[in-house]
Amino acid sequence: MASNSQESVLKRYRVLIFAVAVIIVVIGLALIALAIAQSQAVVAQGPDKVNALANSNDECVVCHKNTTPGIIEQYGHSSMAAAEVSCQDCHVVKQDYPGAIEHEGVYVLNSPTAAICERCHKAEVAQFNSSRHALPAYVAYAGSADLDPNLLAQYEAVPEGSFAPDKSRNDIYHLEGPAITKFACEGCHDVGKPAADGSVGQCQKCHLRHEFSLEQVRKPETCNHCHIGPDHPQWEIYQESPHGIAYMTGGDEWNWDAEPGTLDVTDMPAATCATCHMSGFGGASTTHDVGDRLTWYLFAPISSRRPAWQDNATRMQSVCFECHNDNFIAQFYADADAATEAVNDFVRQSDEIVAPLKENGLMTDEPFDEPIDFTYFNLWHHWGRTAKFGTWMQGPDYVQWHGAYEILHDMAELREMAAEKLEAAGISAGE
Ligand code: HEC
Ligand code: HEC
Ligand code: HEC
Ligand code: HEC
Ligand code: HEC
Ligand code: HEC
Ligand code: HEC
Ligand code: HEC
Repeated sequence: MASNSQESVLKRYRVLIFAVAVIIVVIGLALIALAIAQSQAVVAQGPDKVNALANSNDECVVCHKNTTPGIIEQYGHSSMAAAEVSCQDCHVVKQDYPGAIEHEGVYVLNSPTAAICERCHKAEVAQFNSSRHALPAYVAYAGSADLDPNLLAQYEAVPEGSFAPDKSRNDIYHLEGPAITKFACEGCHDVGKPAADGSVGQCQKCHLRHEFSLEQVRKPETCNHCHIGPDHPQWEIYQESPHGIAYMTGGDEWNWDAEPGTLDVTDMPAATCATCHMSGFGGASTTHDVGDRLTWYLFAPISSRRPAWQDNATRMQSVCFECHNDNFIAQFYADADAATEAVNDFVRQSDEIVAPLKENGLMTDEPFDEPIDFTYFNLWHHWGRTAKFGTWMQGPDYVQWHGAYEILHDMAELREMAAEKLEAAGISAGE
């Protein structure tokens, strides 16, 4: 009896000790898991990315935490929020401000314009306005006829803005109609659309709204929303260039948040779109005028030089010199100039093939109504430009198989189409 009860006490003790041990292990594991989760959360957000709005009692913030929590989350982590720029600074305007809507006892813009940014960012807005990203981008599809005198003057003041030797894309715009073009031309070219208050452009096309993050805007994916596709495949070209490969294989280690103007090779060992075209890097200062470093009008059927192109070349090359030596870049420019001229020659040849048809009235006046219109257009608009862009931005496949080869192919078709039309009209070629 006694030994029995001693045994059962012992048994109970063992059960108790076992249970306590299990509980300790479980709590221990839970604590470890919690610690790991917390450290991962810190890694995911970056140690310095605190939400500046976490304890805000601003009325916009308090209410919008419920209605649009995403906006509070994004803006809270921006450096503008950290610098105490408020919702009101961008959104709240006077009652008579163009586009103002009444909201919770004040007047707001639901899409703050470049004029609002300009209050604090004068230089960026001025540079942007003198670039093709501003009014020239809009005029490219909408034309300039409806611009008011102020905007017209501003458009004409962009040095390279009104260089537009070919209007055939406006024909495409009209042929397709507004139901389509709202999602096509406008989706890209509205980066330069005027707003109701007369200011120009949509900064948020690049600075995805409410984050205003340097990392996001410096990465090449930002540009690929528009610089993509058969007629301006800068994104595809970049991906096959050594610069793009360096970005895709090592870019997650680069220092994307470096203060504007301080970027150098210690932050990124290869160039992105922004490095070459916009960032302060080496001898070049930061600019929102994306034409400021370009020497050719590459997008034209036959490329010619830009105003002050030598100065532009100096600025672009001062970026290259951070990573390449002078001779390498001088040779590269000489070779790329020669390739640009070679494409010009191809396009001149295509013009010569089509000239007798135009002279003899054998092309219809309607744009894009017969196959030859498309072949003639594709030759320069797709393949000629692609070959030039590929040359300048190190994309050999775009110079070759999506470029020069397609030019040769279209040239052969064009010759045959032209000969058939002349023959049908009883005119011998060369007459
Ligand atoms: C009491 C709650 C509340 C307050 C305070 C408030 N909002 Fe809103 N806001 C809303 C709601 C609700 C909507 C509509 C959301 C929807 O339709 O999804 C909205 C919409 C908006 C819109 C979009 C308007 C549109 O028509 O597209 C903007 C911009 C905006 N708020 C800014 C602000 C700003 C700036 C403040 C501070 C001055 C503010 N809000 C204060 C609740 C609030
Ligand atoms: C630096 C300027 C700036 C600040 C500061 C700012 N916004 Fe905005 N907000 C914008 C821009 C630009 C848009 C873009 C409109 C668009 O894309 O059409 C916008 C759009 C909005 C919209 C409409 C978005 C939609 O998708 O319907 C709301 C709501 C809004 N903001 C709320 C806020 C709130 C709340 C704050 C403060 C936490 C805030 N914003 C701070 C610039 C700003
Ligand atoms: C009321 C003044 C004010 C307005 C309005 C304003 N900003 Fe800012 N912005 C600032 C300040 C201040 C900073 C500096 C933050 C810093 O250097 O850390 C800044 C920084 C920035 C940055 C750099 C972010 C970084 O991480 O360095 C971008 C991009 C930017 N603003 C875009 C815009 C855009 C686009 C608009 C209009 C939609 C706008 N801002 C409107 C005051 C403003
Ligand atoms: C995917 C975005 C995108 C779409 C869609 C688009 N474009 Fe463009 N367009 C661009 C880009 C980017 C350039 C600049 C090309 C370059 O310089 O390399 C450009 C250049 C142009 C140019 C030459 C520059 C000038 O101002 O003379 C014209 C004209 C033009 N586009 C008109 C149109 C029309 C009209 C449509 C619709 C039928 C259209 N685009 C659709 C992105 C787009
Ligand atoms: C084509 C894309 C693009 C557009 C459109 C654009 N930005 Fe930027 N922005 C950039 C890039 C890229 C940077 C980073 C430059 C760098 O690497 O330092 C930048 C940086 C900035 C900065 C921080 C610069 C500094 O020196 O502190 C401000 C402020 C700014 N942008 C305001 C604007 C405003 C305002 C607009 C509209 C008028 C605008 N941006 C339109 C691409 C763009
Ligand atoms: C929302 C669309 C859009 C985005 C995003 C965009 N661009 Fe553009 N870009 C255009 C259009 C449209 C044109 C041609 C404008 C015209 O018709 O003249 C253009 C033209 C250019 C040009 C030629 C300028 C000239 O003088 O001929 C350069 C360089 C350029 N963009 C660089 C960039 C870079 C770098 C980025 C990313 C940081 C970028 N773009 C983002 C639409 C865009
Ligand atoms: C290594 C530097 C470098 C990188 C990276 C780079 N570009 Fe370029 N880009 C150039 C040079 C150089 C030219 C031709 C300049 C000239 O005309 O002298 C050019 C030309 C262009 C043009 C043609 C403008 C015209 O005349 O039609 C556009 C648009 C453009 N780049 C956009 C981009 C975009 C978008 C990216 C990223 C996807 C990018 N670039 C990446 C250096 C670069
Ligand atoms: C931040 C550094 C950096 C900048 C700025 C830079 N590059 Fe490069 N570039 C590189 C790297 C890295 C490579 C790959 C080198 C290799 O092949 O080992 C490269 C390769 C090249 C190549 C060789 C392409 C091939 O097919 O082998 C050319 C051409 C070139 N760059 C031109 C330029 C031009 C032109 C500029 C200025 C408009 C420029 N780069 C700016 C880093 C840079």
